[in-house]
Amino acid sequence: MIRPCLGGALKGRFASAMKDAGAEGALEACTAEAQVITSQAATPGLRVGRTSLRLRNPKNAEAPEWVNAWLVEVGERKASGVPGVETVVEGIARVLIPLEVGGLCLTCHGDSGA
Ligand code: HEC
Repeated sequence: MIRPCLGGALKGRFASAMKDAGAEGALEACTAEAQVITSQAATPGLRVGRTSLRLRNPKNAEAPEWVNAWLVEVGERKASGVPGVETVVEGIARVLIPLEVGGLCLTCHGDSGA
């Protein structure tokens, strides 16, 4: 499953880095490791990524067009109650899971808007 692989792995890493080294250490760990953890979640034939309307990392802008179109259509709102996407188009499965923003996230994704 994508959610435990990705959201779970990243969340666990953030929590331990915050505990060990505070927000600065967690930020360092996140910047260095988020891409690695994301690519480890991928298996052959499966593409996994994270994106947002307000990107911290421009590399995350390389999302498929249907993902960017979904983001623009749905706009910024609370993830709870937003259904996401589970469909098959031309034999290819598309899954999009909105990530819930919690207090931990806002330590780094805060006032700057990103
Ligand atoms: C320790 C700081 C930190 C915390 C805590 C944190 N993030 Fe991030 N986040 C970052 C950084 C730095 C990036 C850009 C690096 C990357 O992902 O390659 C990022 C990237 C992202 C992205 C990819 C899109 C983009 O902006 O590049 C998403 C989505 C995201 N974070 C969501 C979350 C959510 C949801 C939480 C809480 C569960 C969270 N983040 C917690 C620092 C953090």
